[in-house]
Amino acid sequence: MNAVQTPAPIGEAAARKRLHVITWGCQMNVYDSGRMADVLAPLGYAPAAEPDGADMVILNTCHIRDKAAEKVFSELGRLRRLKEATGNRMILAVAGCVAQAEGAEILARAPYVDIVLGPQTYHRLPEMVAQASRAAGAVIETDFPPEEKFDHLPDSATPQGPTAFLTIQEGCDKFCSFCVVPYTRGAEASRPAGAILREARHLVAQGSREITLLGQNVNAWHGEAPGAATWGLGRLLRELAEIPGLTRLRYATSHPRDMDDDLVAAHRDIPSLMPFLHLPVQSGSDRVLAAMNRKHTADDYRRIIDRLRAARPDLALSSDFIVGHPGETDADHEATMALVRDVGFAQAYSFKYSPRPGTPAAGAPMQVAEDVKDSRLQALQALLREQQARFGAGCVGLDMPVLFTGPGRHPGQIVGRSPYLQPVHVSGGANLVGTESIVRIVASHPNSLAGTLVQERQIA
Ligand code: 5AD
Ligand code: SF4
Repeated sequence: MNAVQTPAPIGEAAARKRLHVITWGCQMNVYDSGRMADVLAPLGYAPAAEPDGADMVILNTCHIRDKAAEKVFSELGRLRRLKEATGNRMILAVAGCVAQAEGAEILARAPYVDIVLGPQTYHRLPEMVAQASRAAGAVIETDFPPEEKFDHLPDSATPQGPTAFLTIQEGCDKFCSFCVVPYTRGAEASRPAGAILREARHLVAQGSREITLLGQNVNAWHGEAPGAATWGLGRLLRELAEIPGLTRLRYATSHPRDMDDDLVAAHRDIPSLMPFLHLPVQSGSDRVLAAMNRKHTADDYRRIIDRLRAARPDLALSSDFIVGHPGETDADHEATMALVRDVGFAQAYSFKYSPRPGTPAAGAPMQVAEDVKDSRLQALQALLREQQARFGAGCVGLDMPVLFTGPGRHPGQIVGRSPYLQPVHVSGGANLVGTESIVRIVASHPNSLAGTLVQERQIA
């Protein structure tokens, strides 16, 4: 095979520079961090495992819960010392949702930060780096630019491995009472179908076998398609399923209101669409759901689950829950417990309500006391843990396709993913990484499964 010649970088890019990215928060941030590295690669930046001595450090932040800004300032304190150790040569950038929400405060409290950029402006990083390198003062970019950031991002340069993320939609117009996302990520925007299909083919050519489509409201995706048509997510999944070598598809995160008939039918029709869906419900109480501005009831959610299970009987579910939203009573909490018992989740995330500045719920009366939130969370998590353990135990004895993703914890062991996103450990050689095999599940643990190889099935 001929070596591919890449032109030597010009000027300042000729020197190899070290870039360290720290990522907090959701899968979208993981994807964005990869894309920021891609944008900076032509400037000569290569990934560095540690921040010490790096030429640039990006802190990609999350604002969804807890004391997000405080966490950022304490991390920046640590990075400041590392920056000083480089004679202040290190470029320090704060990206993500805290940068978007609190950009001005970051520059006021941490003037040693060189760049503050919101999630919509990553494609402009090279200009910002050039400006910061000229020591022209701190650069702040938190506007929502009219151009689509995706149109300006290069093809991903760094292979993601057997499992990959692909952002297809960003932003949210739903304005749930508790959520900061509509303010930090902006209005809902969908990438065109052609660009998504191209990126998916590129990922598969780089060795990815499983792609998770990402979006804050991924099932609200409605993209421009060939021939001036508009497709919904169901149609996009059908097209993606035709890509040879792409053996597994997933999407996250969805809103119950956008689960349309075509998407439900996609679960019936597409074998490579994995039988595992993360569909946040947040609460099982209609009063709380109304206060949250979710615009669906608990029974609406139950009916959606029924339709999905009719389409794909082996479907397992995951969800997000918030306990202690303002106004939540013991009876409301019981309604959430009842919904969990009715649906039965294979896995779920649950959180104490955390007031986010600027969101409607933060200023609402009847905030729930912290100790009440604690005890409700404990009760809910105990039930969810029990359901997860039951689901895992039900997998023992089954033969499951497992996509191997890397070495296991012990020598001679590898780890992969079941269709239900459970880590599965088996004895096997590293040569199996990137392939899918049938594994007999022999044991279940709280957060993983153990199995033995039954048959090796090399993916086309
Ligand atoms: N407090 C607690 N949990 C929250 N989430 C979003 N905003 C808040 C908040 N203010 C949770 C929701 C959402 C998940 C990503 O984070 O459950 O689905
Ligand atoms: Fe936040 Fe999701 Fe509600 Fe949008 S739909 S406001 S991202 S919780």
